[in-house]
Amino acid sequence: MTEVAILGYGVVGSGTVEVLEKNAARISKNAGQRVNVKSILEIRDFPDSPHKDKFVKTFEEIENDDDISVVAEVIGGVDLALDYTRRCLKAGKSVVTSNKEIVAKHGYELLKLAGENGVNYLFEASVGGGIPVVRPIAQCISANRINEIYGILNGTTNYILSEMTKKGTEFEDALKDAQQKGYAEADPTADIEGHDACRKICILSSLAFGHHIYPEQVPTRGITAITAEDMNFAAELGYKIKLLGRSRAIGDKVAAYVGPHLISQDNLLSHVDGVMNGVVIRGNAVGDVMFYGAGAGKLPTASAVAADIIDAVKHRYARKLIGWGEGGEEYAADPMQLESAWYIRTNVDREKVRREFGDVIFAEGAFDTKSTIAFKTGYMSGNIIKDLIDREIPALSLFRILGDY
Ligand code: HSE
Repeated sequence: MTEVAILGYGVVGSGTVEVLEKNAARISKNAGQRVNVKSILEIRDFPDSPHKDKFVKTFEEIENDDDISVVAEVIGGVDLALDYTRRCLKAGKSVVTSNKEIVAKHGYELLKLAGENGVNYLFEASVGGGIPVVRPIAQCISANRINEIYGILNGTTNYILSEMTKKGTEFEDALKDAQQKGYAEADPTADIEGHDACRKICILSSLAFGHHIYPEQVPTRGITAITAEDMNFAAELGYKIKLLGRSRAIGDKVAAYVGPHLISQDNLLSHVDGVMNGVVIRGNAVGDVMFYGAGAGKLPTASAVAADIIDAVKHRYARKLIGWGEGGEEYAADPMQLESAWYIRTNVDREKVRREFGDVIFAEGAFDTKSTIAFKTGYMSGNIIKDLIDREIPALSLFRILGDY
């Protein structure tokens, strides 16, 4: 039998305990032995919980318990979680986590520490919730050189954008609706400003390309500037607007960024709606593979945490080769050099647009009725488009168009 501890009894922590109990027989079979939750670290009291005897109030009770060999860190945030993770690894306990912030910021250090102590640090739940995507990169498609990853990595913003598309609402109204439905947090900053998607593309990129990509190396734009008018113009041009995290290999470097994109309605990813996530990975042997499913939520996320617990139990005396090397400036490329077609909404006239951009495709239908126009450019790099916009065509909105590169 393996004794496990859970740090934090919030949504994911309580979900993990639920999955471990509900599927106990199957989990024992897959782990090769019984998996028992011995302790749950939580400052709140749950006097009516069937697990009330397992709750402990100090981390030291878990740190010093030699019977516990696997710990699930599902506290969230960085400060406490980072301290506890380091101490568990140093105490010879494997750690599994859903905490994308900590993996994106400190993954290399923690993976190294796990290696030095002969234990594992696993993080399947940190990207895409219940969607298997970390292991597929590390194992199933590991014979490929990966050229590109792009995906809808945040459920809250995808819900907001889907509502704006479907109902024609403005961003603020769709955000309020998402908050009322419990999808968006009271403080939605990390989601709507793109920080959450940034952390997730950092993790996927580090794993796929082999060196730690840090959040500060990933230019990030969220969805707050997208208007109902943009949604209409995009639809007229045959696209939907989605927030994507994207990274692409350029030689030995990686260009990664987060921002709104127009996606052709012919592309499967444009049909990933509501709180669902979708990730496309392009390998040089496999071609494009797509992963789709619930990117957040109690049981989907717990499904991935519990699977990592099983893997940690199975590999108690062996290292899982899931991780990456040290990062640094020499591995990060500037995404502004990537070429694509662009969507621009502006209030200058069509003649001027044609003079500066040549052959463009205007969103028809809106021209006679709105004070702004929107159009699709040919291929150009971010640097060129920025120069044109700064000098001649002030953009009210400027988004990349996926696929036209
Ligand atoms: N806030 C995140 C989302 C939760 O909306 O996708 C899952 O990481």
